[in-house]
Amino acid sequence: MNLVLELATPADTERLGRAVGARLRAGDVVVLSGPLGAGKTVLARGIGAGLGVRGPITSPTFVIAREHPALPGGRGVPLVHVDAYRLGGNAELDDLDLDTDLLTAAVVVEWGEGLAERLVDEHLLIRLQRPDADAEGSSDHSRVAQLCGPDRLIPEPACLMVTRQPEISHP
Ligand SMILES: Nc1ncnc2c1ncn2[C@@H]1O[C@H](COP(=O)(O)OP(=O)(O)O)[C@@H](O)[C@H]1O
Ligand SMILES: [Mg+2]
Repeated sequence: MNLVLELATPADTERLGRAVGARLRAGDVVVLSGPLGAGKTVLARGIGAGLGVRGPITSPTFVIAREHPALPGGRGVPLVHVDAYRLGGNAELDDLDLDTDLLTAAVVVEWGEGLAERLVDEHLLIRLQRPDADAEGSSDHSRVAQLCGPDRLIPEPACLMVTRQPEISHP
């Protein structure tokens, strides 16, 4: 299935992440793609919140993969957050031994497109784009997310809600 969403604010992106995280099971792989600043780490943070794992989920400067243990009250599935930006290729990916992690954890890979697909038979790909990145003086925070993967990992659009509009009060 394929779903395209507009994410007007970082809160929308985090909410999408939560909805995805609430669906993940051990052995699932989510590949996040999109340019620097697109919101991949914001989305990963939401996924961690949806799974109920210990944070903080940040952009690691020196660490390629970090494991976030499951918290009591969460879904009981740890999250391994990988930033593949500096990974040289398949051999270095293999060195991370994600196959072993996947026996018990869900794995989210930033910059993983073209690399992490081989870890599993099916995965969820989320592509983030900044439609206004090139617009001059743009202050628009809008992002577009394209989700592609098995139905069970794709949230219902109705659950995601777009950014709430100010309520109109009726006297
Ligand atoms: N709609 C949005 N979704 C996600 N992030 C947004 C959005 N609008 C603005 N931002 C900002 O863009 C930045 C995204 O950073 P980050 O998630 O680290 O990007 P990436 O991991 O893709 O490089 C954050 O500073 C965030 O506040
Ligand atoms: Mg990042």
